Amino acid sequence: MPSDEFIVTPWEVKGHVDYNKLIALFGTQPIDEAILARFKKLTGSIPMMLRRQVFFSHRDLNWILDQYEAGEKFALYTGRGPSGQTHLGHLMPWMFTKYLQDAFGAELYFQMTDDEKFLQKDELSAYATRGFSYDNCLDLIALGFDPKKTRIFLDTEYVRTLYPIALEVAKRVTFSAARAVFGFETSTNIGMVFFTSMQSAPAFLPTILAGHNVPVLIPCAIDQDPHFRITRDVAQKMGYYKPALVFSRFFPSLLGLDKMSASLPETSIFTTDTPEEAKKKIANAFTGGRTTVKEQQELGGVPDICAVYQYSFYLFEKDDRRALELRQECLQGVRACGECKKELAAKVVQFLKSHQIARERARDHIEDFIIRDCSD
Ligand code: TYM
Repeated sequence: MPSDEFIVTPWEVKGHVDYNKLIALFGTQPIDEAILARFKKLTGSIPMMLRRQVFFSHRDLNWILDQYEAGEKFALYTGRGPSGQTHLGHLMPWMFTKYLQDAFGAELYFQMTDDEKFLQKDELSAYATRGFSYDNCLDLIALGFDPKKTRIFLDTEYVRTLYPIALEVAKRVTFSAARAVFGFETSTNIGMVFFTSMQSAPAFLPTILAGHNVPVLIPCAIDQDPHFRITRDVAQKMGYYKPALVFSRFFPSLLGLDKMSASLPETSIFTTDTPEEAKKKIANAFTGGRTTVKEQQELGGVPDICAVYQYSFYLFEKDDRRALELRQECLQGVRACGECKKELAAKVVQFLKSHQIARERARDHIEDFIIRDCSD
């Protein structure tokens, strides 16, 4: 693929993503200063992921904030396609969702699309994707979501509630519209064609459960937008509010610029990695460093293509001034890649240790979060 080309779909992210181009291509809005100012006014501060443009784009975020200011609470909706262990990239939108729950007192609806991953991945049985759903929910719970305000559901277990909503969606989406959005081919299994209506359904769930229209905000990386373009198209026809969205960039692969991939373990740090595994992956990470120390000192490094720098910037260096200093020191060639890797590894290991403790504790609380259909 030429270096200026990229692909972003819910099932594939490839190439060097140009986020400005993506905004134009998908027709989303950039997060601008005016939005940041609104967050400051409403919550007292601007969270790191917005300040640093990690969450960089949106649909109707101003409308959600208008509704909130007018006294109408919004619900949050996000999810996971349980195809394996959770990696740090998945945690990023969930951390931001946790911030939104705390800052706005919002209820969260969290969908585990075990059906999607069964349909999409030849190698996964329905039993496996159900198992990963329960495993991945430990990571979500470990982040500290409020059990009174958080409902997690598996598509295959909450189907009696979701299916009638999905049917209403499916009836309003033609095959040609779905093919144009997702690029389906004649060899695509028909479950995948229907699936998008299952991912749309929870966007209307808060409204259906409340019996009146509830605004919904969906935080996710921008790969999920194609589903929600369809959701937004059908919302009005169904008499519901269109869901608003806030999109993050992709937490990069440790080996370069594409997003992390659960199917290539060396590109990602998983929440279940041991400290030794994490350290080894960081030691082998792709950096923006030059081939020799002399060149590094003379020319400086290239932080914008460096996975190690991106890790610090996106998640692990909380201090804005220090993040900027790291960048400057790299550009000026006064910093060696080994130093950055060592510092990052220490932070990642510390994070993993405390996350893994919280993850184990979460095992006793799964049932406080999961919702299922009532049995007869
Ligand atoms: P999934 O499991 O691919 O990803 C879960 C969430 O993580 C985001 N994400 C990333 N964010 C940053 N950097 C990365 N490298 C990265 N990789 C994945 C995804 O955008 C997503 O927010 N079909 C969905 C599950 C789903 C969903 C939803 C997601 C169901 N309903 C509503 C978002 C909102 C999926 O397979 O996500």
